[in-house]
Amino acid sequence: MKVIAILSQKGGAGKTTLAIHLAIAAEQHDHAAVIIDLDPQASATSWKDSRKDETPAVVSAQASRLVSVMDAAKKGGAKLAIIDTAPHSESASLAAARAADLILIPCRPAILDLRAISNTIDIARIANKPVSVVLNSVPPRGSLAEDAATAVAGYGIAIAPMQLRQRAAFMHALTGGQAAQEYEPKGKAAAEARRLYVWVCQQMGLNDGKKAKSHRRAA
Ligand SMILES: Nc1ncnc2c1ncn2[C@@H]1O[C@H](COP(=O)(O)OP(=O)(O)O)[C@@H](O)[C@H]1O
Ligand SMILES: [Mg+2]
Repeated sequence: MKVIAILSQKGGAGKTTLAIHLAIAAEQHDHAAVIIDLDPQASATSWKDSRKDETPAVVSAQASRLVSVMDAAKKGGAKLAIIDTAPHSESASLAAARAADLILIPCRPAILDLRAISNTIDIARIANKPVSVVLNSVPPRGSLAEDAATAVAGYGIAIAPMQLRQRAAFMHALTGGQAAQEYEPKGKAAAEARRLYVWVCQQMGLNDGKKAKSHRRAA
């Protein structure tokens, strides 16, 4: 089982959005996925409550239970665990980072967000695991993404070649317990999530399995 930790000490960066969209992409590649929700606000868990499908599993847990929850996920046949974390929670984020094969730091391409990631980068460095920033909610126009890439390079940290743009489907899909790949399977948001997942698999040495099934969800 591979483990992704999604970290950002800033709220609203896109941690839960990323966790959910990667988990659905995994399921559509026949990679059984579990989201481990370490955020006391439990956004991923309440998304799951409004979801009709049984998969992916979402487990709400405290960081002290992380190892046993991961063991249970592994025994249950999960191929991928995605740990969604809370902002302002350095010790829980560090526990998640230490457990991970890959750390992803979602970040909006705005100056205040880019300044705020230095704390999160420190946590990733302490864990000493592969880490990459993923630009999220990139506006359709303008050069913000390029400016952001330069700023990230200044921290000496990798940036994913794929980004998630600011798209209504990423937000609206969640309301009905879906992800963009289900809400609008042929849309741009869905394609971005799928592309990001393929890249993530490559980073972790996880065979990206079958070609994604785009219409698997029951109505
Ligand atoms: N790429 C995106 N396009 C549009 N809305 C987004 C995008 N990413 C996140 N959002 C919205 O921004 C808000 C914060 O995202 P969320 O994933 O909950 O952040 P975090 O978990 O880091 O606090 C949510 O309302 C979410 O729907
Ligand atoms: Mg969240």
